[in-house]
Amino acid sequence: MERLRRHLFIALLTLILFAIAAVSGPVSGIEDRFSIVSAWLCLVLLAYTLLIGPAQAIKTGRPLDNLYIRRDLGIWSALIGLAHFILANELSMNSAYIDFYVNQASLPPAVELRSQLYSWGAILGYIIAVLFILLLSLSSDLAIRLIGIRWWKRLQRSAYLAFTFTVIHGFAFQILESRMALLVGLLVLITLVTLGSHAWGIVKIKKHRTSTRSRA
Ligand code: HEM
Repeated sequence: MERLRRHLFIALLTLILFAIAAVSGPVSGIEDRFSIVSAWLCLVLLAYTLLIGPAQAIKTGRPLDNLYIRRDLGIWSALIGLAHFILANELSMNSAYIDFYVNQASLPPAVELRSQLYSWGAILGYIIAVLFILLLSLSSDLAIRLIGIRWWKRLQRSAYLAFTFTVIHGFAFQILESRMALLVGLLVLITLVTLGSHAWGIVKIKKHRTSTRSRA
């Protein structure tokens, strides 16, 4: 029941954000706005998912076992990320986009760097999509039973890789599309908070293990 309520809440939140995006500009730009909203929502949900474990580790010094809230948030992050993947593919994998943001762009950086940012940004986008499909296929009790908890945990760690690639991909397109400083700052903040608390969580777990070993 609690899980159902959580899924309904995230579905409602997603619908509201998309509805706001739909009415906040001309119909011709609706796909662009959906692409941006889905990209950010995916990133925020992914960061939130990855913060649950470190928050617990910082509080108690113990790592977190398989938790449904983390799994549910991860599922939504991956699904919304894949929606962005489909939209962004349609919007930016074409010569009009490449001409506008790469070959004929009037703002810095230079065309060579823009070309690298576009290519690597797109390649990372595809890798993230594959990682999301993998993570989605892992997000059930059946998957744990089939592959065993050790392998499940190992593969589950690819969520950190997906996050890191999403951030790099996000930065590449922030530069290409000359996004405002506020959005770039937000991306920096999400990255620092997520990776910083992960590192802090590891330190806390190690300290806790050393102190329980020395007491034993
Ligand atoms: C599941 C895979 C993907 C994820 C999680 C993802 C995530 C993101 C994030 C977080 C941003 C920054 C948001 C912003 O625009 O301010 C972004 C932007 C962007 N991404 Fe992706 N991306 C993915 C796949 C792709 C692919 C395959 C392409 C195609 C080349 C792409 C093209 C773009 C473009 C053009 C932007 C800038 C404008 C926009 O948001 O539409 N993305 N993406």
